[in-house]
Amino acid sequence: MRPMLIVQISDFHLKPEGVLAYDVAETASPLRRTVEHINHLQPMPDAVLITGDLVDEGAFESYQVLREILASLKLPFFMVPGNHDHKAGLREVFPEHRYLNGHVEPDGNKAICYTIEHFPVRLIGLDTVIPGEHGGGLNPGRLSWLDRVLSEKPDAPTVIFMHHPPFASGIGHMDKEVFAGRKELASIIGKHPQVERITCGHIHRAISRRFAGTTATVCPGVGMQLVLDLREEASSAFILEPPALMLHFFTELWGEKTLLTHVSIIEDHPLQYGGAHPFFDVVSPG
Ligand SMILES: [Fe+2]
Repeated sequence: MRPMLIVQISDFHLKPEGVLAYDVAETASPLRRTVEHINHLQPMPDAVLITGDLVDEGAFESYQVLREILASLKLPFFMVPGNHDHKAGLREVFPEHRYLNGHVEPDGNKAICYTIEHFPVRLIGLDTVIPGEHGGGLNPGRLSWLDRVLSEKPDAPTVIFMHHPPFASGIGHMDKEVFAGRKELASIIGKHPQVERITCGHIHRAISRRFAGTTATVCPGVGMQLVLDLREEASSAFILEPPALMLHFFTELWGEKTLLTHVSIIEDHPLQYGGAHPFFDVVSPG
């Protein structure tokens, strides 16, 4: 089998150059460091998935900053929008990313749902944005599109990536908006065991859980992390913990095909953690 190494990054919340997000967070610099970090990964990954909230307020100038920073990325990348994105602005700044044109829905909106077919893992990007809402979901049109494309290739190991997770996080303020169509999505996923993973953003923290017979993950944020407050009354707040990315590795290990996931913290500078220190004289004390 051909292995595949997939980077996932999420939730940059980019502001125009020189503007702090929520008066506190510098957003361009963590993304620049993240791109540097990805460019130095060994082995070199195959592709980068970007799971929404690319910018903070949908401003055109922020997408121009995004384009300038991502121009340094040495890998192909694929984006889906989040609730902070403006799809028309995104399309305008990345005209060569034709998959962003998606398909027109009955209400006239364009949904950015697409498949990428030329890698060892089939990639399916889903648009979970509901215009004007913070929460997300999948309407019947997007769900039936997903069911149809999954039916076309039942033997292709598949990763689905999207912004909103179709489950609650345990962080009270994020759980007030229930993912629309989550039960219908679960029943579709349950019919298609080739789905190795559903991976999302939106929560700005690393999360994993079972979902409809597959594994679901949420990627940490690049721009900021959410405060880890697992109370129902948790209020909306972020914390400037280090940015991080997910590295999804599709490979064969110990004679078993698997898709496994590591989390990699983005350093402030290349030797922040002192480089690699070899272990020695390690034996089991038992
Ligand atoms: Fe976000």
